[in-house]
Amino acid sequence: MRIVHISDLHIGKGNDFNQRVYEKGVKILNKIEKDLVFISGDLTIDGLLSDYDLAKEQLGLIEGRLAIVPGNHDERNLGYELFSEYFGEADFVKQFYKILLAGLASSEPDEDEGRLGRRRHEIIEQAVKKNKNKITVVGFHHHLIPVPNSGREKNIIEDAGETLDIILKNEIPIVLMGHRHVPYAVKVHKSLLINAGTFSCNRTRARFGNTFNILDVVQEGKNEISATLAVVNIREERKTEMVKFNSKKGIYENRYCQYLGSAHPINRTSYSD
Ligand SMILES: [Fe+2]
Repeated sequence: MRIVHISDLHIGKGNDFNQRVYEKGVKILNKIEKDLVFISGDLTIDGLLSDYDLAKEQLGLIEGRLAIVPGNHDERNLGYELFSEYFGEADFVKQFYKILLAGLASSEPDEDEGRLGRRRHEIIEQAVKKNKNKITVVGFHHHLIPVPNSGREKNIIEDAGETLDIILKNEIPIVLMGHRHVPYAVKVHKSLLINAGTFSCNRTRARFGNTFNILDVVQEGKNEISATLAVVNIREERKTEMVKFNSKKGIYENRYCQYLGSAHPINRTSYSD
């Protein structure tokens, strides 16, 4: 199955939102066959009513099934009240084809920091318990581990240690996150931790540009998968394979994305464990 993972759209009337890139990105992703579009938060700039109105209108252009969690920007200015009104429950467990997705709100109102807390840890554990033979996927906005090339570390979820422990203990194969505007993926034990870059915000880093991720997953058993992760650069209409992952064999290739260009020579990494 295929998950298109987009993040940090920052839709609004301010300078952060790049409407042209957004429309181009939507055009590209509407041509892609997919089972799910997961949006890992920061749909808006400031969580304002006008931001939510515009975000709702713009997200209406995306074809396919959507699953959405809020980001820190969406919870500003009482935006968390509007999120559920416009996009449904901020915390949910839903089935999409072969996956059971636990989507969680990692943001706190008017704070940039994130945390999941014991209640959401319980949601993850219950989802794993309830899952008979699907692939468990957990998605939230803030990052769980530091993301290279995204500046000095900040805003990692406050309970990252406990959350990571739950992910690893339960051998959850896929975690989807955003927030840092840089695409990244790293394998830890039997889990692939994935960050999407920013889809349509002008605040991009160096030559990362506006991107989204495409994750192709083949189920090899309960919570055993093989997967290929690719990053699509929207302006350049370029798709680059970033990672190949097998939760059982631990195969892991191209640990780092290659499309930074000549500014950053990339070391290709390929190993098994
Ligand atoms: Fe964010």
